[in-house]
Amino acid sequence: MAALFLLLLAAPLFSCASVKINPLVLDEQVLWMSGQDSVFTYRIPLLTFTPKGSLLAFAEARKESARDYGSKFIATRRSTDKGATWSQMSFIRDDGSDLDGVNLGSVVVDEKAGTVILIYTVCFHLYHCSPASTMMVESKDDGLSWGSPKNLSLQIGVMNFAPGPGTGLQKRYEPNKDRLVVCGHGTIEGDGVFCILSDNNGKNWTNGAALKSIPFNQPKKLQDFNPDECQPVEMQDGSIYINVRNQNNYHCRCRIVARSFDGGMTLPIDDMYFDYELVDPAVAAAAHLKDGVMFFVNPSSEHHRVNLTLRWSLTNGKSWERNAFQIWHGPSGYSCMTSLNSYSGEDKKYIFIIYEKGKKDIDESILFAKIHLYGGL
Ligand SMILES: *[C@@H]1O[C@H](CO)[C@@H](O)[C@H](O)[C@H]1NC(C)=O
Ligand SMILES: *[C@@H]1O[C@H](CO)[C@@H](O)[C@H](O)[C@H]1NC(C)=O
Ligand SMILES: *[C@@H]1O[C@H](CO)[C@@H](O)[C@H](O)[C@H]1NC(C)=O
Repeated sequence: MAALFLLLLAAPLFSCASVKINPLVLDEQVLWMSGQDSVFTYRIPLLTFTPKGSLLAFAEARKESARDYGSKFIATRRSTDKGATWSQMSFIRDDGSDLDGVNLGSVVVDEKAGTVILIYTVCFHLYHCSPASTMMVESKDDGLSWGSPKNLSLQIGVMNFAPGPGTGLQKRYEPNKDRLVVCGHGTIEGDGVFCILSDNNGKNWTNGAALKSIPFNQPKKLQDFNPDECQPVEMQDGSIYINVRNQNNYHCRCRIVARSFDGGMTLPIDDMYFDYELVDPAVAAAAHLKDGVMFFVNPSSEHHRVNLTLRWSLTNGKSWERNAFQIWHGPSGYSCMTSLNSYSGEDKKYIFIIYEKGKKDIDESILFAKIHLYGGL
């Protein structure tokens, strides 16, 4: 009787969180292959779930060359069965033959409004064009169609702002519950991490936090402080953790972590730190919090974009579990990660990753991977 009682008492504790994480790639699919559909290179993958539980994948389709500038379209594919099958590619924006066209980007899901917002840049590199503009498109039908682009520079001012690349967030906790937070970086000399905020479901945006490079607005040298591409994550205490590319390898060849305790208004230097465990070759990486576990993906190498690795932290990113999981040993670049809210036991088991993967070069293809967190058991 006593044993039975103990068993019943213990049962609710035996949730996935107490089972050891031991990842396994359950399914892997090529979403884009460079050269396919007359596109030179696909790069900068983004991945999110919609409020209705569909998966949306995005990438820059670089039409003529692999360069960051040049003409592109924003490619998208959609899955209504959690990544088992995908729609044919369609495009959201096509910049025609612009010399410095669209660049991705940050995708943010507004659970309250039931919408998906994509924020991107045009003319980011000021290559035969001026000025750079921050643009937004919105889908009100689960990613099937997209409205006409809005020029956010009219609200936040004209600046070189490259959102993400990755996901923005909607605050679930106070302070500033329901706020949309999108973070990105400036360009070349005026680099740094900048966040833009909306308190009315993406209708109006204002400038929030800035963590500026040093020396700001001046040419950089090796090992200057130059925070760059970044991924914000809301923590369960309502603070925002931002995992940042350390462009000039200031202090270490590792990630910078910036934090905001006021809903994205400030990123105090006092709360910033270097995460020595997250060795990094200066690249856009993925971070995601699921059921209190922080996940991180990057090419884990000091000098090369190889060895795409999934790590996890049971201490809000303060330390990382030793048994990291290698997703791909070879060339690998930018990545983005998502999961479904764990309403069902089934959804607790999976995270979904999109990343740049190749045999010789990182930009050969864009892969989708469904990871079973307990699958290796
Ligand atoms: C966006 O608005 C700014 C500010 O008015 C303007 O300078 C820029 O040309 C606009 N960009 C586009 C793509 O319309
Ligand atoms: C929000 O933006 C619209 C234009 O898009 C403007 O008419 C309105 O005044 C703005 N509201 C606030 C509160 O700034
Ligand atoms: C891959 O990353 C893991 C985790 O950081 C590291 O232990 C390992 O040495 C790396 N392998 C290579 C070949 O860089």
